[in-house]
Amino acid sequence: MGFHFLFFLICILNFHSFLATFSNDIPEKGKLETYIVHVEAPDTQIFTQSQDLKSWYNSFLPTITTSSSDNPRMIYSYNNVIKGFAARLSPDEVKEMKKKPGFISALPQNVLSLHTTHTPNFLGLNENRGFWKDSNYGKGVIIGVLDSGIFPDHPSFNDYGMPAPPAKWKGKCEFNDTSCNNKLIGAKNFSEEDSTPLDEDGHGTHTASTATGNFVKGANIFGNANGTAVGIAPLAHLAIYKVCSASCPESAILAAMDAAIDDGVDVLSISLGGPSSDFYSDSIALGAFSAMRKGIFVSCSAGNGGPYNYSILNEAPWILTVGASTIDRKITATAVLGNDESFDGESAFQPMDFASAFLPLVDARMLNSSDFDVQYCLPESLNKTNIRGKIVVCEVGGGIKRILKGQAVKDAGGIAMILVNNEQYGNTKFAEAHVVPAAHISYADGLKVKIYINSTLNPVAKILLKGTLIGDDRAPVVAAFSSRGPNFESPGIPKPDILGPGVNILAAWPVSVEKTTHTKSTFNMISGTSMSCPHLSGVAALLKSSHPNWSPAAIKSAIMTTADVVNIARKPIEDENFLPANVFATGSGHVNPSRANDPGLVYDIQPEDYVPYLCGLNYTNRQVGIIIQRRVNCLAESSIPDAQLNYPAFAITFTTLSNSQTYSRTVTNVGESKSYYNVEIVHPLGVDVRVEPTTLNFSKLNQKLMYRVTFKPLASAGNNTVVEGFLKWNSDRHSVRSPIAVILS
Ligand SMILES: *[C@@H]1O[C@H](CO)[C@@H](O)[C@H](O)[C@H]1NC(C)=O
Ligand SMILES: *[C@@H]1O[C@H](CO)[C@@H](O)[C@H](O)[C@H]1NC(C)=O
Ligand SMILES: *[C@@H]1O[C@H](CO)[C@@H](O)[C@H](O)[C@H]1NC(C)=O
Ligand SMILES: *[C@@H]1O[C@H](CO)[C@@H](O)[C@H](O)[C@H]1NC(C)=O
Ligand SMILES: *[C@@H]1O[C@H](CO)[C@@H](O)[C@H](O)[C@H]1NC(C)=O
Ligand SMILES: *[C@@H]1O[C@H](CO)[C@@H](O)[C@H](O)[C@H]1NC(C)=O
Ligand SMILES: *[C@@H]1O[C@H](CO)[C@@H](O)[C@H](O)[C@H]1NC(C)=O
Ligand SMILES: *[C@@H]1O[C@H](CO)[C@@H](O)[C@H](O)[C@H]1NC(C)=O
Ligand SMILES: *[C@@H]1O[C@H](CO)[C@@H](O)[C@H](O)[C@H]1NC(C)=O
Ligand SMILES: *[C@@H]1O[C@H](CO)[C@@H](O)[C@H](O)[C@H]1NC(C)=O
Repeated sequence: MGFHFLFFLICILNFHSFLATFSNDIPEKGKLETYIVHVEAPDTQIFTQSQDLKSWYNSFLPTITTSSSDNPRMIYSYNNVIKGFAARLSPDEVKEMKKKPGFISALPQNVLSLHTTHTPNFLGLNENRGFWKDSNYGKGVIIGVLDSGIFPDHPSFNDYGMPAPPAKWKGKCEFNDTSCNNKLIGAKNFSEEDSTPLDEDGHGTHTASTATGNFVKGANIFGNANGTAVGIAPLAHLAIYKVCSASCPESAILAAMDAAIDDGVDVLSISLGGPSSDFYSDSIALGAFSAMRKGIFVSCSAGNGGPYNYSILNEAPWILTVGASTIDRKITATAVLGNDESFDGESAFQPMDFASAFLPLVDARMLNSSDFDVQYCLPESLNKTNIRGKIVVCEVGGGIKRILKGQAVKDAGGIAMILVNNEQYGNTKFAEAHVVPAAHISYADGLKVKIYINSTLNPVAKILLKGTLIGDDRAPVVAAFSSRGPNFESPGIPKPDILGPGVNILAAWPVSVEKTTHTKSTFNMISGTSMSCPHLSGVAALLKSSHPNWSPAAIKSAIMTTADVVNIARKPIEDENFLPANVFATGSGHVNPSRANDPGLVYDIQPEDYVPYLCGLNYTNRQVGIIIQRRVNCLAESSIPDAQLNYPAFAITFTTLSNSQTYSRTVTNVGESKSYYNVEIVHPLGVDVRVEPTTLNFSKLNQKLMYRVTFKPLASAGNNTVVEGFLKWNSDRHSVRSPIAVILS
């Protein structure tokens, strides 16, 4: 019967590291549950109408059911994303269905959960010039966002300067007449609990405005980060598909992607994830494949399971998998100790009237030696302790929102909080809407605070609120929570693909959910790969607008081969420990939208190219058929190792020292018609890399040339390590970089 997994919104608003929730209750005999059913049509059967398809699907359902019309068994009948449907069934009924011809599989649905403005400037997008101007701010492109809905009356969704939606648009607005406009052109509810696509969480409003929000002056949180808020593609249209309320059921996600394909979206932005699984049983991968085949670009969050290896989600090669990193803006709150040591932290709550005087300092873990949880400042855990008038040191973690820790401190009479990271979170700090003056500091700084507390009888501290500072030249730094590769499902495809801004992102927020943020502000600052994904969805919309004929794979290649691998200080991008980040944390690097607009060469992939790739993953004919929705015979078709897919990056695994591996790649000239490229190679330590030929001489636009690359481990190669390098094609105008990750096992 399998497990039900919780799909989640990929935001780390709630917990400092998400935990996918598993519930493994086996359905009782006779109890109805939602199943995703895959079927295949006999070759003779052709469906011209979706009605025909639906009646064929209906033929799989039990004929005698006790259900009345108000409790229908068929929930969704899918046209695009899969051949199949979602229906409420009992285990016995599924057993019966298995006997019918054309039946492939029926599995209880997974339930996914959600992952969480200055950024256009940080990404080099400026008004009236450069790429924003060249791409017309994404004018005419439609971005579909699958999330928790939208707060339509927010100023970010005003339609000032917006054209009417393009003629191809077939979607609709399930709000009343006044809520949609030329910005928000569609909104549909696929959630189980709510009747309208209204956002009662905040996550969907935030991600939608990050991708496409219009210009709003004077956006801030408690006066911090004040400025003009704007999405990455401000003239793109927005279509909302509400798939999450209390949870995000898989059947709804598939139905929303099915609808988005029919409606005519150009880009899909999905800040959601479930557990990693084979692509034929991963609903986002299935829906994204069908979308890609229709020319729709799909951008997904990488997950918030970092810093652990193999924590990456949404790892199919036809998806852009987006990790998260910091920006150069800090909202600084500094903890100053009685011994004059001071540590810069962050907090969005910076009341003007807070007098920063030295106050008694106490470490929460020392308040009650018989309560392990007191260190996390859980609600009520501080009630009987004496923290009145004090500054309290609290640890991140413990399974609650960080802002609730400040609430617990306040409730027990504390004045302020120093929030310290655990070792895994390193230097990743959040500027959040706390209810007491607070400074969220790093793990290393937290240790120094605790040493100081132990060193003196009457420890004291003060918090200095310094407001918004721009210019951290260490940025972008990979966020601790950003999920890491390698790619478990397809080791030859390195993941994540790219980094985008995902820490302390200010974007639109419904005031109606004030209770979750302690702010009446219409903007909120949150973090997660949920926040980096819509940045890349916006970039893809800009590229679609400036290059309408590029395929999803070409857009993805342009984004990846032009990414930045150094930070503002021109040093290698670092991770949460301020050590050089590896390729399984950074992917190809940090997005550079203006460079992506002019990549020179692209690595293109046609939808049919995925057939030999999927056969090479050793999926059965049927499993491949579920993904590509036709009958396949892998023995008759060619089959390739996954690293042979025409991907703009390499991941190579060596299990023995002796064998070399050779792959080919085909690049398409999208730069100047006559252009000449030389290869530049930086070898991973202990691995020889040869490219043949070493020059590429193009004479016309869209010309394709092939090269071969051979990887050979040398005797000096290490054991059980990951080494990395890159290969780059340079012309006088362009450089086209592909990272190389080699796993020596
Ligand atoms: C339309 O919806 C908005 C909120 O989205 C609400 O304020 C307004 O009262 C509704 N109007 C009608 C006529 O229902
Ligand atoms: C929309 O909301 C209602 C709850 O009022 C629900 O019954 C319905 O199934 C939802 N979804 C769709 C696709 O209509
Ligand atoms: C934000 O900036 C605008 C324009 O610079 C200014 O008018 C406004 O007062 C500022 N708001 C806050 C809260 O600082
Ligand atoms: C992940 O793998 C790298 C390379 O093998 C290793 O150095 C690192 O310690 C691993 N990280 C974790 C969190 O396991
Ligand atoms: C200390 O923790 C224990 C166990 O949770 C609890 O029973 C006790 O009341 C706490 N004492 C104080 C002073 O909070
Ligand atoms: C702790 O304090 C809060 C706020 O004063 C109060 O609402 C709550 O009931 C208290 N809980 C306990 C267990 O004393
Ligand atoms: C501080 O003292 C406490 C109690 O003696 C001890 O558990 C803790 O490890 C010490 N912390 C540091 C950082 O030295
Ligand atoms: C598929 O099977 C072949 C032959 O057994 C094997 O060499 C290859 O490593 C397998 N590929 C994957 C991705 O498991
Ligand atoms: C590239 O090819 C063109 C046409 O065949 C030739 O004229 C030119 O010399 C070549 N360039 C280089 C650098 O080999
Ligand atoms: C790797 O392991 C092999 C076999 O155990 C050994 O011969 C070789 O010296 C090791 N290489 C390195 C670089 O440690």
